[in-house]
Amino acid sequence: MGYNIAIDGPAGAGKSTIARRVARELGYIYVDTGAMYRAMAVYFQEQGLTSEDLEHMKEICGGAEIVIRYENESQQVYLNGKNVTGRLREEAVGRFASVGSALPEVRAHLLELQRKLARDYDVVMDGRDIGTNILPHADVKIYLTASVRTRAERRFKELQEAGQACVLEEIEKDIQERDERDMTRETAPLKQAEDAVLIDSSEMTIEEVVQAILSVCK
Ligand code: C5P
Repeated sequence: MGYNIAIDGPAGAGKSTIARRVARELGYIYVDTGAMYRAMAVYFQEQGLTSEDLEHMKEICGGAEIVIRYENESQQVYLNGKNVTGRLREEAVGRFASVGSALPEVRAHLLELQRKLARDYDVVMDGRDIGTNILPHADVKIYLTASVRTRAERRFKELQEAGQACVLEEIEKDIQERDERDMTRETAPLKQAEDAVLIDSSEMTIEEVVQAILSVCK
């Protein structure tokens, strides 16, 4: 069993940046579970489905061969042997993942992969249900959040810096919708585990959050 640090929280709270930094500080593996849900979304898209085809997604999970491999040093994600990492951050893939991840069949498909990584390695794993469901006995659990406005503003800045046209109010609405879906779904909804440490990063820098988590680990 590795040493396990679980970081959960809503979209845009800075989980992946922070989890990656904490992992680097400690020499642990960073496991991005959102990337796995995104890879499932790529598979469904390749089958010609839209994010409304929930019944087909369930059927596919029951029958088809969908092998997702997570290259833990480089964080590359392979879908049936093909590297799909480059497609994972597409907006449409994110939206599809957010809808598909509500299905128990989709979650069940990824559960063992996530648990196995945590058994085999010291990990910092980020997601929505890591502390509550995937690794209930994690050594450290963090619930990382920030206000909707702060998260929207961070995303807005990121997109602007990447030269993409965007509207703050639309981003804020999208974040609100994603929170709503993640928190109200029946299977493994996003919530703070009872034994998780709450960190609200609205008024904190990345470095301050990283240090706060490292001090919890000590
Ligand atoms: O974190 P990220 O935005 O990459 O995740 C994509 C989607 O996958 C999220 O909107 C969320 O609905 C879902 N997800 C999840 N459980 C996880 C990680 C991600 O339901 N452990």
